[in-house]
Amino acid sequence: MEQTFLMVKPDGVQRNLTGEIVNRFERKGFKLVGAKLMQISDELAKTHYGEHEDKPFFGELVGFITSGPVLAMVWEGENVIATARNMMGKTNPLEAAPGTIRGDYGVTVGKNIIHGSDSPESAQKEINLFFNDNEILSYSKQDSEWVY
Ligand code: PPS
Repeated sequence: MEQTFLMVKPDGVQRNLTGEIVNRFERKGFKLVGAKLMQISDELAKTHYGEHEDKPFFGELVGFITSGPVLAMVWEGENVIATARNMMGKTNPLEAAPGTIRGDYGVTVGKNIIHGSDSPESAQKEINLFFNDNEILSYSKQDSEWVY
């Protein structure tokens, strides 16, 4: 089953949106297989956002993601990578559709509440960057026969 890395950013934690966000993915039918509240180091932030190193907003992005606790998570399910991206909405909340997380709660691109992997390759890379193997659980859930 496919896995993705999702992270409630510091603004989402400060705005008390973690429960709401977890709730959305749970109710959709996905399975939470790893989660931890963490304070991201400067080094981890720079590695995670390494591909944006040359962008003018890189410093702001690193400063923001290290500014407070984040909720790092691994979610599992069929097509979870693309579906989670749809549920998050477009990167810029201005373009994110109502009903999506950013469409409902975000206002600016700099504080857009949630991060999600955009491909199987980035999902694998980000899961390995934030989680040890023993922090990702394998278990069965009673509702799976009603989801699949
Ligand atoms: S790009 O330029 O298309 O590759 O960038 P994009 O994929 O849209 O965004 C990459 C991450 O950078 C964040 N971002 C910004 N932060 C601060 N200020 C500005 N102007 C800005 N523009 C983009 C954006 O939220 C993305 O973060 P993640 O965590 O990957 O969603």
